[in-house]
Amino acid sequence: MDKSQQKQIKEAVRRHYAELARTGSSSCCGPDSNCVPTQSVAQMIGYSQQELSSLPEDVAGSSLGCGNPLALSEIHRGEVVLDLGSGAGLDVMLAAQRVGETGRVIGLDMTPDMIERSTRIAERAGVDHIVEFRLGEMEDMPVDNDSVDLVVSNCVVNLSPDKEKVFQEAYRVLKPGGRMFISDIVTSQPLPEDMRHDLSSWAGCVSGALEESEYLNIIRKAGFEDVAVMDKVDATRAELGTACCDGSGDAPMPLNIYSIKVGARKGAR
Ligand SMILES: C[S@@+](CC[C@H](N)C(=O)[O-])C[C@H]1O[C@@H](n2cnc3c(N)ncnc32)[C@H](O)[C@@H]1O
Repeated sequence: MDKSQQKQIKEAVRRHYAELARTGSSSCCGPDSNCVPTQSVAQMIGYSQQELSSLPEDVAGSSLGCGNPLALSEIHRGEVVLDLGSGAGLDVMLAAQRVGETGRVIGLDMTPDMIERSTRIAERAGVDHIVEFRLGEMEDMPVDNDSVDLVVSNCVVNLSPDKEKVFQEAYRVLKPGGRMFISDIVTSQPLPEDMRHDLSSWAGCVSGALEESEYLNIIRKAGFEDVAVMDKVDATRAELGTACCDGSGDAPMPLNIYSIKVGARKGAR
C-alpha cells in the first residue's frame, strides 16, 4: 500500500472516531441502528459488572472495543501502562485502578476529539494525576524508549495501514521484560480485495483485519517473544455484531472474522 492510500485510510478512520467522540456515541453503530444498551455491549465483549460499576457512567458505557485486554493481564502497583488508541479511556481508567497512586497510565490516540473527551472524563473522575492522554499515532509514538511496563490495546491495531510499524514501536517503548496484551480483529482467510479498499469498513474494524497467522508473524518479527493467542471468539456472533466491529461500513460483514486476545513479551536484556 502506498503512502497516499495509507493517508486516506487514516483520515477516514480519524473522521469516523471524531464523530463518535463528538456525539458521545459508544458503539460504532450509527444513531439510527438497532443498538443494544452500551454497558451491555461492554459486558458482552468481556468486562465484568464489577469493573463497569467501578467507573463513571460516561466511561463505563463508552466501549468501542472488541474484547477486554486487561482481563488476562497481570498489572502491578506502580507500573507504567500504555493504551494504544485509548478512545474515551475505559481501559485507561481500569488500568489506573490497578497501578494505583504510584503508577502511571498513558492513553495514546490520534483523534483530537477523543483526547479532549477522555481528558475531560479523567479530570471529572479525579484520576488525572495517574492518567495522561497524549495525541499521537501508534505508528510513531510520542513515548520514550524502554519506558513502559505494559502495552495494551483494544480493537485498534486492525485500523492501522502499517501494522509492522505499530508493533516495532510497541517493542521500542517497552522496558526489557515488558509485556503486551492486545484485543483485536483478525480473519481466518484473506478478505476479498474490494473489501480491503472500502474506507468506511476500515473505520468499522473490518477491512484492515489481517489473517491471524500474518498478524502473529508481524508481532514476532518486531522482536516479541512468547507470542500467544489467549482467547478467540467469532466476531460475527450476533451480540458482538452490535459492538464496534459491526462492519459499520458499506461492505457486508465477512463470515471468517474473529476477536482475539494476544499476549507477548519483550525479552529481558
Ligand atoms: C475502535 S476505537 C477503540 C477505542 C478504545 N480502545 C475502546 O476500546 O473503546 C479506535 C480508537 O483508536 C484510535 N486510533 C485509530 N487509529 C489510530 C492510530 N493509528 N494511532 C492512534 N490512535 C488511533 C481512534 O481515534 C479511536 O479512538
